Amino acid sequence: MPPTPVPGPRGREHLQVLSAAGDDLHDAIRTLHERYGDAFTFGAGPIRFAWFVGRDAARTVLFEEADAFSQRGGYDFLRPVGGPTALIHSDEPDHKARRKAVQPAFHGREVDAWLARGEAVLGPWFDALARSGATVDLYRELRTRFVRIIAGIVLGDAPLARDDAWLRDVNALMDFPGRPMLEQQWKIPLPGTPWARFLAARRRVDAALHAELARREAAFDADRPADGATGGALDLLIAQRREDGGPALSRDELRDQSLSLISAGFDTTSAALAWAVQLAFEHPTAGAALREAVRDLSPTDVQHDPVVDRYLKEVLRLRPPAAAVLRRTTRPVRIAGTDLPAGRRVALSVLLTHRDPRVYDAPDAFRPERFEGAPPDPFAYLPFGYGARYCVGAGTSTALVKAALALAFGRYDVELVDARPRKPVGMTLQPEGGLPVRLRPRA
Ligand code: HEM
Repeated sequence: MPPTPVPGPRGREHLQVLSAAGDDLHDAIRTLHERYGDAFTFGAGPIRFAWFVGRDAARTVLFEEADAFSQRGGYDFLRPVGGPTALIHSDEPDHKARRKAVQPAFHGREVDAWLARGEAVLGPWFDALARSGATVDLYRELRTRFVRIIAGIVLGDAPLARDDAWLRDVNALMDFPGRPMLEQQWKIPLPGTPWARFLAARRRVDAALHAELARREAAFDADRPADGATGGALDLLIAQRREDGGPALSRDELRDQSLSLISAGFDTTSAALAWAVQLAFEHPTAGAALREAVRDLSPTDVQHDPVVDRYLKEVLRLRPPAAAVLRRTTRPVRIAGTDLPAGRRVALSVLLTHRDPRVYDAPDAFRPERFEGAPPDPFAYLPFGYGARYCVGAGTSTALVKAALALAFGRYDVELVDARPRKPVGMTLQPEGGLPVRLRPRA
């Protein structure tokens, strides 16, 4: 039997949806969900995806039939940054081998080092902000701070991790995949175009990163410390060996892992923290409970505070920075009662699955207390994905966001200068129009 076609807009309606999606992708997806239910198709060419919503689809894609999917064709828009061997672009068996090499560097035992790096960057910055009384766009600024923090976690104390020009370029690399999907198809390398700017930034980023990798590999081979301070995840990656004793990761793989870890890490973590701040103002009762909970807590002590933990879980439910998990089918597969052939792009909406009224009471309400008691169904709560692809940086980002909340709300009066609710926009869900914030010494 031929596969059942996935419903979706056609003809004129499809053109209208495409145009609406250019302005607000998430709103367009929500409208299609209301119209067609938990499975629908939309988009054209390389951006045509079959969309799915709900825990049954999540269980199929991420667990029961996980081997029916490839990462390739899903996250193609991130490949120009992270490179072909980044974890997010790797299929089995390469994925397993690479993940085995990367994962130890993000083990929970490293948490003190992550917190120290976070505090070293955010502490003095918050202090300077409070003294100056200046209004800043918190989301934009957080991106600058978090690229430095995560680069430090990945590259250690290497001078490159503190090189402002290099960090600016790394930050800018995420601008291109952050553009609307349709615009990303225009890869015209003419001077002044976004693609040309991207390529120029990537050349500079790669040249400096390869020089750093060469220095570190040579030091490892000679069994001596590299010149200058090092450490960080990269030392662990370089030290990983295959069973035959050879390096687990080639130079190109080291480049791809380093850069994809930094870019995946800073982009999502700064969005999560920005939403945690914004939602404290949109929901004053929960915001007051958060302030009370973090008052005078250290970055270490805040890690175990249940109020902060539930607050952050609810932030990530309503504003998951990774709003969709993407794949491509490698064989026919049935998802949520719909048959798909091989070669179809699939998007699992994390954003809409998190608002499923079959799972969550009052799904649009901000209620951290819903996370009291039993943990949520893992297929209905997916801010970090699930299973073999579960985010390697989940612990790192959670620790850093909690620490940052303690460092900001626990020590200063934080004022959102323009306290309107903000629409979530972008491939990585972020507050539209930024987040104008002022800090003052606490009264
Ligand atoms: C709040 C912050 C973050 C969010 C919401 C987030 C979300 C996610 C999600 C949903 C996935 C699964 C994607 C899939 O199944 O296709 C994922 C994978 C991944 N994340 Fe994160 N992430 C965050 C922070 C980080 C950090 C800090 C790092 C590293 C420093 C990181 C590195 C990765 C990598 C390498 C993968 C691919 C794993 C694999 O395919 O094996 N993420 N992330």
